Amino acid sequence: MEAIIAGTLLQLLQGDIVDQEVEAVVNAANTGLWGGSGVDGAIHRAGGPAIAEECRRIREEQGGCPVGQAVITSGGFLKARYVIHTVGPIWRGGREGEDELLASAYRSSLQLAREKGIKSLAFPSISTGAYRFPLERAAGIALTTVKDFLTANPGIFSEVRFVLFSQPVLAVYEKTLAEVLDA
Ligand code: APR
Repeated sequence: MEAIIAGTLLQLLQGDIVDQEVEAVVNAANTGLWGGSGVDGAIHRAGGPAIAEECRRIREEQGGCPVGQAVITSGGFLKARYVIHTVGPIWRGGREGEDELLASAYRSSLQLAREKGIKSLAFPSISTGAYRFPLERAAGIALTTVKDFLTANPGIFSEVRFVLFSQPVLAVYEKTLAEVLDA
């Protein structure tokens, strides 16, 4: 599924984040930038040790990456030139600011991409795996946040993609995008 929002192509597709031919892929990282499983594991495995080495330097310089913020490294062996590492919130029932922190993770990634002059980027479904954020709620926040950013920054990006790992997750994002575009 795709839509054009203020001059930017927004695409939803099923796939693996590490295969994306975009300028930057977004990693669903942790605050220590230690690597992990899921998206994080896949990116570090495919991208090679250069990414972990840059993460180590960022950890030394600024202690990692707070929840809701983002940092950038090179993409190592990935097709993408950069990896934007952002940290989504761990779901704790919804009353600990999780919604705003998730929106902030998307916004910070988009802002960092804009600052770096990146034209195309791919997001995974942040926080909806190991961090257990409810999928439909997360999809609504993700798509609304991206739509609002693109509307406020017309033509900044050529393309923003959501790369969903499975067909059921893609279906939730598609249904949600239709609602967000209607709103
Ligand atoms: N490409 C795209 N999506 C993927 C991939 C992949 N290669 N692997 C997993 N996913 C999907 C998951 O199915 C889930 O829908 O990405 C979504 C996010 O899941 P996680 O990667 O577990 O991310 P998150 O919930 O944000 O948890 C982050 O997990 O791996 C650790 O170090 C990471 O501590 C951090 C935490």
